[in-house]
Amino acid sequence: MKYPKNYLDEIKTRLKVSTVVSRTVNLKKRGKEFVGLSPFKNEKTPSFTVNDDKEFYHCFATSEHGNIFDFVMKTQNLKFGEAVKFLANLAGMQPYTFSKQDEEREKEWKEYSSIYNQYVEFYHEEILRNEEAVIAREYLKKRNLSKKEVKKFKIGYVEKNPKFYEKLINQFSKKILTDCGLFYFDEKKKIFVERFRNRIIFPINNISGTPIGIGGRIFQDNNYLAKYINSPETRFFKKGSNLYNLDLARKLSNKIDHVYLVEGYMDVIGLAKNGIENVVANLGTSLTEKQILVLNQFFDDIIICFDGDESGYKAALRAAESSIKELKPEKKISFLFLPEKEDPDSFINKNGMEAFTKFTKETKVPIHIFIFNHYMKQTINDPSSMAIFEKTLRSIANTIKDNFIKKYILEYFLEQISLLTPHSNYRRKKFYNKKEKSLKTTQKYFNETQSLSPIELKEFSLLYIVLNNINIFQENRYLIENIKFFTKENKIVLEKVLNELKTKNNLKLDDLLLDSQLVDKIFKFASIKHILNNNKNDQQKVLELLEEIKRDLKNYELEYRIEELESKFSKDLSESTFNEIRELKKLQNIN
Ligand code: GTP
Ligand code: MN
Repeated sequence: MKYPKNYLDEIKTRLKVSTVVSRTVNLKKRGKEFVGLSPFKNEKTPSFTVNDDKEFYHCFATSEHGNIFDFVMKTQNLKFGEAVKFLANLAGMQPYTFSKQDEEREKEWKEYSSIYNQYVEFYHEEILRNEEAVIAREYLKKRNLSKKEVKKFKIGYVEKNPKFYEKLINQFSKKILTDCGLFYFDEKKKIFVERFRNRIIFPINNISGTPIGIGGRIFQDNNYLAKYINSPETRFFKKGSNLYNLDLARKLSNKIDHVYLVEGYMDVIGLAKNGIENVVANLGTSLTEKQILVLNQFFDDIIICFDGDESGYKAALRAAESSIKELKPEKKISFLFLPEKEDPDSFINKNGMEAFTKFTKETKVPIHIFIFNHYMKQTINDPSSMAIFEKTLRSIANTIKDNFIKKYILEYFLEQISLLTPHSNYRRKKFYNKKEKSLKTTQKYFNETQSLSPIELKEFSLLYIVLNNINIFQENRYLIENIKFFTKENKIVLEKVLNELKTKNNLKLDDLLLDSQLVDKIFKFASIKHILNNNKNDQQKVLELLEEIKRDLKNYELEYRIEELESKFSKDLSESTFNEIRELKKLQNIN
């Protein structure tokens, strides 16, 4: 059976070609395209290109050409159905299960989208041309909108006594016309009424650009009608998973990595008019996790900019607490707070695009800092208030799904709290300003005995000092006891030296019977050797150098231990682990 087109389209819109291809081919960006070595041919110069805008790949060497489904079928030797399953899973979608209802749904979708298309086109034409629409045109002009925006967003005007229902009833069943949400039955008058009559309408499109819902605004003073109404949820229009203008904004994601999320239709249009087109709006409801996920498919950085009033602030807080759950290491969410009484539309119309961009750069706040600051403002310096504060922040951090992000946000929260307590001291502050080293790479070195890691080099240096000054250590064995080495071979050497020193007097290097290859390596690579050779007879200097190396090794040990604990902490989030990490970090800092 055929997969419904919109299911396949959804996979395609969720997965860029470059995302799929780069799982197996190393791609480099070149202009609008990506290039890499062809997976269809053994080659040395790249002739394989990927174009996300056009949704295809092309191999100039073999003339292979296709979309993501073709790519997976060809490179993984899968049948079409298997490729769909594979990619749907990659896109985070449910596998498609065919049923009898599928055909029916497909048929209904065709009718539904046809109704919306006709509706949107018809009323868009009306606002552009109909004499009677002059009041609507005047209103839009007053709101600074030109024909260009009206066309781009397919804005329409539904007259006071519209007769579109009569037109459609010849083509479609009563049931679908009722189900689609554009009309409702007036029980008193026994007639179908147009929900958006006497409103300016904003079509809401699905991700592929087909209208599936409508937002309608009154434009004459009125205190008994809602300013905006949105079409009700239908089988094809789910408010929590759609975003206004996503269909246009997503096309910019090849060029721009951030997207603005605003509250209203007019905010989207106002920003777009002023040159900021990477903007979407949630549809008058709270922001959902699904919407964050959808945005993250296209953009790495979401900037949430709600109105500068109390309800905007509250909505932002709600949005922060629900979207933090979906935060991923490679993604960012931040918040932009506008001056009192402004919304994005009014702000940009007053100040222009450059001021808006500058304002964004200077004042946007990362999500975790916004949350922290919000709850801190509600906290007073008293144990019970502090306890509630910490509990709240911990439970928010615990909702984060990604373990790494969870770990670091919790760490940030707890560290900030500890700075608020009287124990916070100079040293801790100093530590947190310090640039942290990459611990991952350190750990990798431990296993790589082939290449010489900084640790190995340090160990070589220590051994170099020992092997060249055996006489010093004969008397002062304690100086080289209890030193932790990470490299097995080096460890063995040091242990052997210590043992021999214990049992033999007047020990010589040759008596040690060490692996000569290793000794050669030590003598060749010990980075200390030149310094040491210049200070051969200065015992004081030799011991100083030894202490320095011991301190460095101690720090590696701490780093390694901290890393182990951090990975434990990311799993158990226990306070004792966290405290242990902090103590070790303090030690590291003292060293
Ligand atoms: P303008 O007043 O035309 O500038 O609109 P706006 O886009 O600034 O809208 P506003 O900030 O007042 O509201 C933000 C969004 O909330 C709107 O785009 C609607 O989706 C929704 N909304 C606003 N008022 C109502 C209402 O009365 N009813 C419903 N259902 N939704 C509303
Ligand atoms: Mn507004």
